[in-house]
Amino acid sequence: MIVIVSETLCNNEDNNHSNKEQPPEENLQLDGSTFVVPENNAFGHSFREYDKESERRATVEDFYRKNHIYQTYEFAKKKKEEYGKLDKAMMSIWECCELLNEFVDESDPDLDEPQIEHLLQTAEAIRRDYPNEDWLHLTALIHDLGKVLLHPAFGEEPQWCVVGDTFPLGCAFSESIVHSQFFKENANYHSPNFNSTLGIYNEKCGLDNVTMSWGHDEYMYLVAKGNGTTLPPAGLFIIRFHSFYALHRNGAYTYLMGDEDKEMLKWLHVFKYDLLLLD
Ligand SMILES: [Fe+2]
Ligand SMILES: [Fe+2]
Repeated sequence: MIVIVSETLCNNEDNNHSNKEQPPEENLQLDGSTFVVPENNAFGHSFREYDKESERRATVEDFYRKNHIYQTYEFAKKKKEEYGKLDKAMMSIWECCELLNEFVDESDPDLDEPQIEHLLQTAEAIRRDYPNEDWLHLTALIHDLGKVLLHPAFGEEPQWCVVGDTFPLGCAFSESIVHSQFFKENANYHSPNFNSTLGIYNEKCGLDNVTMSWGHDEYMYLVAKGNGTTLPPAGLFIIRFHSFYALHRNGAYTYLMGDEDKEMLKWLHVFKYDLLLLD
């Protein structure tokens, strides 16, 4: 099971409020206000160095072609059920952070930094501007940890069902979704049950009742919730929907939102450090 140690993290949270977002000292040293990342991670591997001329840019389109063809309502339900068991592996938060450094996010043409730096920089940027919102710092640190799905210990899932923008399934695909032209080859595209604006949903049914495409957002949400996280609902909302760009950037699918979702959406806008600048 993946108890991604929200337990460990939450204990740290409780015991050390001023330093909870910092990993153990032997793994990470602070040099003034700058993080000094160690050369080797806990697994004995060196952190990945990225080429400025990223080859990822060339793979983004192919990534979304696969993503949009294979992400169906049935597929997402199945993955949610499978991974909801939380029976893959047990690992600390910091170990997961280091594990992510082995991977490249093929959906992201701009992110030139190792994943671990992205997590730390997002958390630090939010701490700088919201010093009293400790839950927000923690949320930022762990928001992408669901990408461990790429690792063999967690099933070695292909990129197209781990990263990239997420979107609702069970209703019509919005044209505001990146590379929406590829949905024409999705099995749900021509299904009369799924291809109307509301599809299987009722207006204002609430995002909690919507099946999103499967990926690291939903997985980390399941892990945090399944481990009794002490994060507030807003933290869980950020983790679960931070890749739902069609909603928080383009305003699509608002008819599925309940009143609580509208309240929560403002926190996704606060999370701009990840969404607009770094991710
Ligand atoms: Fe993410
Ligand atoms: Fe991110």
